[in-house]
Amino acid sequence: MGAVEGKVAIVTGAASGIGRGAALALASRGARVVVADLNIDGAQAVVREIESAQGIAIAIRVDVGDDQALEDLKAEVLTAFGRVDIVMNNAGVITRGLPEHIPIEEWHRVINVNLFSVVRSHAAFLPLFLGQGSGHFVNTASFAGLMSYSYDRLPYAASKAAIIQISEGLALYAIPKGIGVTVLCPGPVATNIGVGIPSFGPETTTRGPGSQFGVRDPLEVGHEVVDAIEANTFMLTTDDQIREILVSRARDWDGYVHNQILAME
Ligand SMILES: NC(=O)c1ccc[n+]([C@@H]2O[C@H](COP(=O)([O-])OP(=O)(O)OC[C@H]3O[C@@H](n4cnc5c(N)ncnc54)[C@H](O)[C@@H]3O)[C@@H](O)[C@H]2O)c1
Repeated sequence: MGAVEGKVAIVTGAASGIGRGAALALASRGARVVVADLNIDGAQAVVREIESAQGIAIAIRVDVGDDQALEDLKAEVLTAFGRVDIVMNNAGVITRGLPEHIPIEEWHRVINVNLFSVVRSHAAFLPLFLGQGSGHFVNTASFAGLMSYSYDRLPYAASKAAIIQISEGLALYAIPKGIGVTVLCPGPVATNIGVGIPSFGPETTTRGPGSQFGVRDPLEVGHEVVDAIEANTFMLTTDDQIREILVSRARDWDGYVHNQILAME
């Protein structure tokens, strides 16, 4: 896509964490930013941060779990700025519990917010991007969608694996038409995602992807997102050590599963 300067960028889940980091980074590099979140007070606070650094931003309340929400968001942004160039589908939630304890309704909630939000966003914005022959989607997945290292958050992992597949398939279709697609796969990032996680059944000890992965700063990750948009990069991880694990898993998938089981004992 080239420089983001002057572009209009929507970031969902931008009141906090990685979304906030991306919103601040986009604004600092000259984009006009829509800070979209369920938490409108938090979104307005991010807008004030951007404005105090001479950036341009507006806050819009959105519930990405609502079928009509992304269409309404598109209409509001077109009214405010007249165009949309970048959409970062980033809002996400997590849940915890052993596989036999997470209720079906909780599966529906997590898949709806994490995965169907991306589906809704593509449905709303892809026709616009196809019409203008340009645009860029950033979809936030996770290391949890690339490989399994825990068993107490399967709805989350499933939603993130599906986001990677949808993004890859969309890339095959959209890139030849001038539309960029980036899938952001973060490892651990210092955000509020762990605050007040719903939990089902007995307590579990949540395992991370591995001690070799340090906890990243969300603003740094935000700048890497902007770099990826500008370079038209498809796969953006917050730590490339993940690639070595994926290569060794591809060579010996059963060995990978057995080693993960051993690591949990
Ligand atoms: N933090 C990590 O270590 C990590 C790792 C991998 C992936 N991720 C992913 O990064 C994304 C951002 O998470 P974060 O870590 O910054 O968490 P966060 O909790 O700090 O921020 C998430 C934001 O999403 C908003 N949100 C939640 N539900 C929403 C809805 N229905 N509609 C609109 N907004 C909603 C929240 O209000 C919040 O502001 C998520 O998709 C998450 O799965 C995070």
